[in-house]
Amino acid sequence: EKGGHDYFMLKEIEEQPEALENTLRGHFHDGGIVLDEQRLTEQDLRDIDKVFVVACGTAYHSGLLAKYAIEHWCRIPVEVELASEFRYRDPVLGRDTLVVAISQSGETADTLEAVRHARTQRARVLAICNTNGAQIPRESDAVLYTHAGPEIGVAATKTFLAQIAANYLVGLALAQARGTKYSDEVAREFGALAAMPDAVRKTLGTVGQMRALGKELADSKAVLFLGRHVGYPVALEGALKLKELAYMHAEGFAAGELKHGPIALIEDGLPVVIVMPSAKGRALLHSKMLSNIREIQARGARTIVIAEEGDETVRPFADELVEIPAVPTLLQPLVSTVPMQVLAAEIARARGYDVDKPRNLAKSVTVE
Ligand code: M6R
Repeated sequence: EKGGHDYFMLKEIEEQPEALENTLRGHFHDGGIVLDEQRLTEQDLRDIDKVFVVACGTAYHSGLLAKYAIEHWCRIPVEVELASEFRYRDPVLGRDTLVVAISQSGETADTLEAVRHARTQRARVLAICNTNGAQIPRESDAVLYTHAGPEIGVAATKTFLAQIAANYLVGLALAQARGTKYSDEVAREFGALAAMPDAVRKTLGTVGQMRALGKELADSKAVLFLGRHVGYPVALEGALKLKELAYMHAEGFAAGELKHGPIALIEDGLPVVIVMPSAKGRALLHSKMLSNIREIQARGARTIVIAEEGDETVRPFADELVEIPAVPTLLQPLVSTVPMQVLAAEIARARGYDVDKPRNLAKSVTVE
């Protein structure tokens, strides 16, 4: 049942291209984005002037990415918040606020309560969920199902990639309804998304390299993760995977924050995983990141750099270079996440832990 894999998580990592394909399939018809359950009118969507994204854990990390896409495409302010914080605050919501609740299980207690909290203030709720008929979609005004298939491993992998794609579909649906993008632009953006399953398939070529690296890093005390822009949520996710699976101290940072504290953590031999922005797409961010890597390497860090293939500028500063396909900036997280998932699983395995059932964790967190 593990399909010849040593553990479910590896099987699920390898299923990511299909998870993406299945999530995208069926959400684009007649030149436009379609949701699965839509109890909102076109006018309701057109009137949306504020978006809150609420979620927990890995789903929250996918939500952070929604902000980059929705603000860029729709010109609507987006706030992303942990459901456990949102539900106990007094956020400013109204009929023209869209609350996007992301939950693989659709049963997470805090996310469900965040949805209820939003609805009492008449906000519209759109659920992104992987489980048909779960409680969160049942209590929402619109639903977009990720069709990642059942995820057995406690650590979210293929559902994370599917959630990112779903967030972008929601962004395009809003852009379409609000008219901030013409239908040919929506179709073009969808086309770029539709090319991602193949890019992820190609990225699976790094599995062998990451498994070997995982074994090498098994005795590390800690691992840091650095990213900028859309690479920042990816760094947070890389660190979460390592914490939950390998029980190792791991932190994700926005690279621009280094000088404001985290650089003090750098010491000889400390592994630092860096998500490199695209050289072409984000030249300024790319050069800032290069100087960050230079700084930490000079202080003895062991740099593991995830960069676009063909990015030669980074080679001298990478103790380990992990090459991923060049894709449009907003879509890079779909490929840069993959090597980090494998790395975390393999470090955990080398330390003798059960990758599919990490201690103290449940797949679905239905109590606070
Ligand atoms: O079912 P949900 O997506 O609502 O779960 C939220 C988190 O508990 C979940 O993403 C968790 O962080 C992951 N299993 C970690 O890999």
